[in-house]
Amino acid sequence: MASRKPIGVLDSGFGGLTVVGELIRQLPQENIIYVGDNQRCPYGSRDPEEVRRFLFEIMDFLVEQDVKMIIIACNTATAAGLEAAHQRYSVPVIGVITPGSRAAISATKSGRVGVIGTDVTIQSDAYRREMHRINPRLDVVNRACPPFVRLVEEDIAESEEAREMIATYLQPMQKENIDTLILGCTHYPLLAPMIGGVMGESVQLINSAEETAREASTVLSVIHKLSDQNPHPDYQFYTTGDPEWFAAVGSRWLKRPIRVDSVTLGD
Ligand code: SIN
Repeated sequence: MASRKPIGVLDSGFGGLTVVGELIRQLPQENIIYVGDNQRCPYGSRDPEEVRRFLFEIMDFLVEQDVKMIIIACNTATAAGLEAAHQRYSVPVIGVITPGSRAAISATKSGRVGVIGTDVTIQSDAYRREMHRINPRLDVVNRACPPFVRLVEEDIAESEEAREMIATYLQPMQKENIDTLILGCTHYPLLAPMIGGVMGESVQLINSAEETAREASTVLSVIHKLSDQNPHPDYQFYTTGDPEWFAAVGSRWLKRPIRVDSVTLGD
């Protein structure tokens, strides 16, 4: 049995588009509904309880759109609310931390893995816990890089300001002798050229988007809900911010024109 119901994807802003790009590449027959909470972005230095509230508001909206699965394409919201979301919703829900951890475990040769993310993600220690569940011998080095999200949201990822900020924040990580660095925020792959330039070629960057799309494909296949015979898939984007700005930035990153509507969440 197949299902043409859409996959719901959410993020605090633009970062989850990295997951959408991979879904379109790996699962080209799927319809997708995306919500970016740009108005309230960033989530990364908020109280985890507040992040959970925002997450549930978006998930309630996606459930109303009759999605067949929800991908929390935001590390902060995954760290703060994935477990609670599993309790609250009957639709399958996946986050980005387990897929990213798995990809890092398979990539590292030396066993020394770095993780960069927002304050909430790093303080939750979710990546270390997830990796140690599978391989307790790994050395995991965490570093919060809270201002990086703004570089993406303000579309200044290629600026001199971005280069300087990334170099400053990653300086301690350069001394840690890691061979693998998890980009533990879905916004960070959009800064990957600069992060890679600072860390050097000996450090492999892990972008959880690819592994997350693979996990979505596995889950849908197991529950017999992969879409089929859908030559013109529908991609609908919603933002709590400015739809024109979202369409301009989002279509450039996804390399296709996108349809964006406004959505109001919460009070
Ligand atoms: C944020 O909103 O601060 C970043 C989202 C993420 O952690 O992926």
